Amino acid sequence: MTDSKFGTGMRSNLCAEIGREFIGKEISICGWVNKRRDHGKLIFVDLRDFSGIVQLVLDPNSHKEAYEKGKNIRNEYVVQAKGIVRGRDEEAVNKSIPTGEIEILVSGLKIFSKSKTPPFMLEHRDRVDENTRLKYRYIDLRTEKMQRNLRLRHKISAATRKYFNSKGFVEVETPILAKSTPEGARDFLVPSRINSGKFYALPQSPQLFKQTLMFSGFDRIYQIARCFRDEDLRADRQPEFTQIDLEMTFVEVEDIMLLIEGLFENIFGEIFQEKLKLPFQKMTWQESMEKYGSDKPDLRFGLEICDITNIFTNSGLKIFKKAADSGDSIKCIIVPDSSGLSRKDLDGMVDIARSSGAGGLAWIRINEDLSFQSPIAKFLSEDEINALKKTLNLQKNNLILIVADKFKISCEVLGDLRVHLGKKLDLVEKDVFKFVWIYDFPLFDWDKNEKRPTSVHHPFTSPDEEGKKLLDSQPLEAKSMAYDIVLNGQEVGGGSIRINDVDLQNKIFELLKIDKKTIERNFGFLVEALSFGAPPHGGIALGMDRLVMILGGLDTIREVIAFPKTQSAIGLLTGSPSRVSEKQLDEVSIKVVEKEEE
Ligand code: AMO
Repeated sequence: MTDSKFGTGMRSNLCAEIGREFIGKEISICGWVNKRRDHGKLIFVDLRDFSGIVQLVLDPNSHKEAYEKGKNIRNEYVVQAKGIVRGRDEEAVNKSIPTGEIEILVSGLKIFSKSKTPPFMLEHRDRVDENTRLKYRYIDLRTEKMQRNLRLRHKISAATRKYFNSKGFVEVETPILAKSTPEGARDFLVPSRINSGKFYALPQSPQLFKQTLMFSGFDRIYQIARCFRDEDLRADRQPEFTQIDLEMTFVEVEDIMLLIEGLFENIFGEIFQEKLKLPFQKMTWQESMEKYGSDKPDLRFGLEICDITNIFTNSGLKIFKKAADSGDSIKCIIVPDSSGLSRKDLDGMVDIARSSGAGGLAWIRINEDLSFQSPIAKFLSEDEINALKKTLNLQKNNLILIVADKFKISCEVLGDLRVHLGKKLDLVEKDVFKFVWIYDFPLFDWDKNEKRPTSVHHPFTSPDEEGKKLLDSQPLEAKSMAYDIVLNGQEVGGGSIRINDVDLQNKIFELLKIDKKTIERNFGFLVEALSFGAPPHGGIALGMDRLVMILGGLDTIREVIAFPKTQSAIGLLTGSPSRVSEKQLDEVSIKVVEKEEE
């Protein structure tokens, strides 16, 4: 027996712990049959546990009983093997696995559990349809890749807890049966049996609870918190996800940024043995929108957006002149080498621009002799052509993509095209992590449909000092004390300094056109708590799933969640959501009305 920390009454070691130094020793191991090869005279079995694979040899000449049992085992059977470790012959060494130099001559084999033929072979996992993998998730989770993903997630949460504990944070849990919070998404509702006709809401985030804990004098709290949002799903969104959530009193924006940079420094140091370059880059929301057309810029490649409105103030091209005259923006990106882009690609980009909200997209290709090839070329004056060449430092083969529209639309459309081109032209730097803080967000957005301002973050976000002065006159110009942390073009976290003044909080509700009754009903407790001595406070929440996904180099957050939902919010393993019995419905006073087929 060895002193493996995984040693139990059933096994001495994990499969992959056994190396050359074990030769001659007696060991026992347990696991799943990964593969069985019957060579007639001998049976070879690859035995697998989470650590890896080791080869068993069943030899009728030395251990007949074990050999006979070995004839019956199949893939995914769960077995225990006892035996002596021996070195492999030179020609039988398998360099592709860590245990490839040894094998175990089995003296005793015990079958714990049989397996039906599995729906897919573990080694074919990447070719298997995702729904099959989700339905048989327990098999999918046996694969090396899923083991690695969830273990990475564990390491990140363990490093996070260790870090916050060392900084004086207290881990506090907050209710899951909570109350509706207005954070943009639909709530998941839970009917109450005891309070008939009333509902809890699953928390979209612990926002109000963590603020309340600051009013309670806790000073620093954190939580690895489960959050629920009933929104349309994408590769980076789940209805049920996890945030690393924290809140602190007596802090300023810079304090939170430093704290989070320290967290990442620790995570990278402990898990990847990599020294992160600190501090992270910081960029105002305005600069981010202007240069990258997004509040989550991917800084792993260039293609920055340029403003060329000034060039077109007297343009013969009506759309451009109109945009320049009316205060809209004419913006462009320049693709340095467009030789790989066909006419069809250009048409595809026009479609992307339209679906991102632009009326259209103008393009100009720069020929060998620096002349312009473009549907709009004939409308451009000599002066405009020269100004474009000079301002944009145009070279042969460049492609200019131009959008003339409202500031936000021009930026966002080019931002979407930028991301599209970054991928298509393979401009994205590999194996790097580009962090950037985005700050100085507007406090409000304008909701065209509802004709009222809405919070860019949430209604408890404090305006900055300048912004407070603008609330009466130009609230849409006010900036907030919110910040987002962006990693490789994805928002991995967001937070803010909160309002700790009851009058200011009421003023914000008023500007958001939330009436007194709704305020009272939804956050009466918060408003009241603010009037009993609320310290300055702020916090942030990091999207744990997204973070693990990016750090693990994965494409969807479903790869880092043990039992995720599908894009249509279905839990395929358990078959949730499901119908419930009439009795259960009666108990919570609910009657289901079937929707008529359309
Ligand atoms: P926010 O809504 O920005 O802020 O959420 C914080 C982070 O959570 C992640 N996230 C998600 N991840 C997976 N699936 C989802 N559906 C999903 N929605 C959000 C993102 C995001 O950056 N209460 C505030 C935080 C605060 O102010 O302290 C909040 O929840 O990575």
